[in-house]
Amino acid sequence: MQNNPWNDLPKPFFAMAPMEAVSDVVFRHVIAYAAKPDLFFTEFVNASSFCSEKGIDSTKGRLAFTDDERPIIAQIWGNKPDEFAKMSKSLAKMGFAGVDINMGCPDKAVVRNLSGSALIRTPELAAELITATKTSGLPVSIKTRLGDTRIDQWNIWIAHILKQNIANLTIHLRTRKEMSKVGAHFELIPEIKKLRDKIAPQTLLTINGDIRDRQHGLELAKQYNIDGIMIGRGLFNNPFAFETKRTGHTRDELLQLLNLQLDLHDKYSIELEPRKFDPLKRFFKIYIREFNGASELREKLMHTRTTDEVRAILKELNATS
Ligand SMILES: Cc1cc2nc3c(=O)[nH]c(=O)nc-3n(C[C@H](O)[C@H](O)[C@H](O)COP(=O)(O)O)c2cc1C
Repeated sequence: MQNNPWNDLPKPFFAMAPMEAVSDVVFRHVIAYAAKPDLFFTEFVNASSFCSEKGIDSTKGRLAFTDDERPIIAQIWGNKPDEFAKMSKSLAKMGFAGVDINMGCPDKAVVRNLSGSALIRTPELAAELITATKTSGLPVSIKTRLGDTRIDQWNIWIAHILKQNIANLTIHLRTRKEMSKVGAHFELIPEIKKLRDKIAPQTLLTINGDIRDRQHGLELAKQYNIDGIMIGRGLFNNPFAFETKRTGHTRDELLQLLNLQLDLHDKYSIELEPRKFDPLKRFFKIYIREFNGASELREKLMHTRTTDEVRAILKELNATS
């Protein structure tokens, strides 16, 4: 067994959520610059792609990271134990500090593949995947939901996972069926915590869903005495969400983050893996908001084709304001 980074985290610790096409090496660095969480995850990576000659190239961008991001956990998805074993051994060699298995994704394509949240319906396979992943020697964690369709059955699934002796359990406090359409079930945390204390006191418990920022997370951690807080979409409203004090941020501070994202996009495209420009556009609304002329500026930027075109428009804005 290699070092277990989960044991070195503060209490409570803050993690940036894995988010496909969002939490890549570029955006993680922007968030680290704004206000760094204690732990990073990659976006999820399909084990079948990773293990196939045809698909491996598609996983490289998702798994790219730099030394200053350690400890970083790779998140994987799929449903074949042999692939999980093979992939996690490679992840150990690549320098990842742990492997997180996605057992919560409600996306139709993933569920049809009998992966992600579909594993809630095949608990024996879920356990086999964990066992296979552990053969890498890396600590294994799980990110899941409360259950498949019924909220009143959460304890059956969560108890099963807790019995697998994992390093950390992150629970997105909704069922698969609820997607993100209802509020997170914070009211269940005390019962979940009791179950964790009974079955697996050595397993860390992280909660996720609708947590806005560090202050909100600290309130929940204090109220429920949990180990970790994971924040995802809160970063879309406030990229400074992990800062230790709530402070207002100026337009220029937000635009500085956008400029950093542009620079890192170019830098890591050269140094690590080439990255496409168009997906960058989805980030504009994170930085360009709530100031006079924000929507016009966003609209203008949607027509750009290169990072230099974006920079030119931002420079013009600076010169005229
Ligand atoms: C754009 C997007 C991509 C996501 N991709 C992943 C993923 O790759 N792996 C995963 O476990 N969860 C993924 N999620 C779910 C988040 O990690 C998180 O569980 C969910 O958004 C609820 O937390 P939040 O309210 O803090 O965002 C994704 C969510 C979003 C919005």
